[in-house]
Amino acid sequence: MKEVKIETTLQLFDDINELPEDIKSLMSIAIDARENAYAPYSNFNVGASLLLDNNEVVIGNNQENASYPSGLCAERTAIYYAGAKYPDAKILKMALTASSKNKVTDKPIPPCGACRQAIAEYELKQDHNIEIYFMGAKGKVAKSSSLSNLLPFIFESSVL
Ligand code: THU
Repeated sequence: MKEVKIETTLQLFDDINELPEDIKSLMSIAIDARENAYAPYSNFNVGASLLLDNNEVVIGNNQENASYPSGLCAERTAIYYAGAKYPDAKILKMALTASSKNKVTDKPIPPCGACRQAIAEYELKQDHNIEIYFMGAKGKVAKSSSLSNLLPFIFESSVL
């Protein structure tokens, strides 16, 4: 038996003002998108904005449903829209923010496991890393320079 240790790295910014200007703008777009989330069941709003290599910015937010599993997270709403509208463009950067009507979200809130798997598909397909910045409604912002930092030991198509 051999033990395998997998390490991952994130960067932490004190708040949105510490971000580089281009990322601050991308995060502001995600914040606006978050406000338009349709989340009447969870009261948990998530916004996503993606910068593509054709300079387009695509947004998404969570869309809930009375049949709960039929809803979709903000991240997948955004990446599937990007894939549908700009199938040849690479996703370079992604900004995510989440707020709750029930509590103050002041810590970085990462994408859920299903969204990590979905984002990974695009990172592998485009053979280019996706920088991911995520935050709550305020406070620290975390940066992952690649999806693979958030999902080590991934399930991917080469095994099929
Ligand atoms: N949600 C997202 O939009 N992204 C995530 O990564 C985690 C969760 C949404 C789904 C649901 O509408 C609400 O947040 C509560 O789980």
